[in-house]
Amino acid sequence: MLKKIKETASYLQSKMQYMPKVGIVLGTGLGELATQITECQEIPYQEIPNFPVSTVEGHSGKLIIGKLGETRVLAMQGRFHFYEGYSMKEVTFPVRVMKELGVETLLLSNAAGGMNPDFKIGELMIIKDHINLFPEHPLRGENYDELGTRFPDMSKAYDATLREKAKKIAARNGICVKEGVYVGTQGPTFETPAEYGFFAAIGGDAVGMSTVPEVIVAVHAGIRVFAMSIITDLGVPGKVTEVSHKEVQEAANKVQPLMTAIMKELIAEI
Ligand code: HPA
Repeated sequence: MLKKIKETASYLQSKMQYMPKVGIVLGTGLGELATQITECQEIPYQEIPNFPVSTVEGHSGKLIIGKLGETRVLAMQGRFHFYEGYSMKEVTFPVRVMKELGVETLLLSNAAGGMNPDFKIGELMIIKDHINLFPEHPLRGENYDELGTRFPDMSKAYDATLREKAKKIAARNGICVKEGVYVGTQGPTFETPAEYGFFAAIGGDAVGMSTVPEVIVAVHAGIRVFAMSIITDLGVPGKVTEVSHKEVQEAANKVQPLMTAIMKELIAEI
């Protein structure tokens, strides 16, 4: 794995004019941010040695390297989901490469179903913590001390300073944001009403099929993390809505400009 990380990082370095400081996983709701990256170079995943290739509809796979304002960023357009059949090592490989390239902060977004009765469809939730229910752990197996410690602390996985900054930015722009716990599950099924009820009972505010693996590997690597969800459907008892991928994308597209605005200002403050 170490050899692969170095090989991929040196391939990307040979293509880059400068090293990125901030990594971005452009999940659902952040695609628009990619259009604002300047001085950019785009590298399709299939051209990058050792990179898996994204398959899911609505997620085109490429790395975008450039600047957002004055900040040097490396953005992933399209992430690798566990439900697509990738192993957890593959899902999180790009985060390893980001670390090797010097990334210090990772921003992520996703679509999620809300269990918290105070949530509405189309609202944004800053992730303050997560519950990992994926059936495979990205750090299972041999630990490479060069990458991080065997037993990483997860008590401060979602950086408090970045969350506070994001809340201030949202308030300044008149954007309503919630904060909550994200439950990460493997999918690809959306939840049954009983499963939503279970996830709420164990302390979750929203549930989705991504983010947690990348966050774990980022924390292991000592990268600061900020993540946000768009609540695209509800799993609130008595209010469970029928969900489809199309509806999730439509709801996410509507709120996209607000999420983009917050992320952009946050990057300027990093
Ligand atoms: N469950 C899991 N993943 C999701 C959901 C959901 O309700 N909505 C968007 N992604």
